[in-house]
Amino acid sequence: MGKLAVVTGASGGIGLELCRILAAEGYDLVISARSKDKLEEIGSELSSNHQVTVTMVAVDLADAKSREELFELTPDVPDVLVNNAGFGDYGMFSECDWEKQEQMIKLNDLALTHITRLYLPGMIAKGNGRILNIASVASFQPGPLMSVYYASKAYVLSFSEALSVELKGSGITVTAVCPGPVNTGFAAAANAESVNLFKKNSGADAKDVAEFAYRKMMKGKAVAIHGVKYKIALFFVKILPRGLVRNLIYRIQRSRTKQ
Ligand SMILES: NC(=O)c1ccc[n+]([C@@H]2O[C@H](COP(=O)([O-])OP(=O)(O)OC[C@H]3O[C@@H](n4cnc5c(N)ncnc54)[C@H](OP(=O)(O)O)[C@@H]3O)[C@@H](O)[C@H]2O)c1
Repeated sequence: MGKLAVVTGASGGIGLELCRILAAEGYDLVISARSKDKLEEIGSELSSNHQVTVTMVAVDLADAKSREELFELTPDVPDVLVNNAGFGDYGMFSECDWEKQEQMIKLNDLALTHITRLYLPGMIAKGNGRILNIASVASFQPGPLMSVYYASKAYVLSFSEALSVELKGSGITVTAVCPGPVNTGFAAAANAESVNLFKKNSGADAKDVAEFAYRKMMKGKAVAIHGVKYKIALFFVKILPRGLVRNLIYRIQRSRTKQ
């Protein structure tokens, strides 16, 4: 039997780059996102370049039934599960679009948790596997002006770390990867393109982040922070008073280019 990987949020950004790495490593793939056309394009790119089988599942993973559909359409127990689909939203919570926050919590947290719960028993029975959850440097502190997003990523980190301990000795590892800003469709989806933190092309390269994530996942690292700059910053987050940290993040998030 060949190796199989399931990747959510595979239609662009970090997820797409992870699919390219996994296909090059010989994994058959189940790729999921909402954009059917993009999935079809990626499916034919991966299968013709790497002679792997790609199953495409175009669904909205914020919806519980769609997550079950993804699970049912998966041809075998995966060796790798990548929970990558996610998005953010920029602005004052009091003025936000509630539907968007609800969808964000459903996708970033509920879907990641549900999908893990669906695949995990099979992976445990098989006795080996890797789970990669895309968290963020946002996971480590509150994020005024992206309050729900930062909180949703704190959940991803906490859940992943706890699971990595529960699964010791099972052959399954859980890795939470924590990138800073990455040049993907993220800033546009979060209405954050004018925020200096997400200035066009100022972030990390999605391919570099995916390669880093793949390496750390294969090593079975529980938590992996991408980039020396963010490793240092998060060291200070640990030692500085929490009140100072949350106000600093507010200043950083507030800083925008004039439009
Ligand atoms: N870029 C950054 O600065 C950054 C930093 C740290 C962490 N992250 C995290 O990295 C992960 C990947 O994001 P990215 O930066 O690669 O952004 P991206 O380019 O916007 O990719 C997001 C992916 O999620 C999919 N998606 C969005 N809503 C979905 C839904 N309801 N159901 C199914 N799929 C959905 C998108 O596909 P469709 O639109 O086709 O559904 C797309 O494939 C996210 O979890 C994000 O929070 C990003």
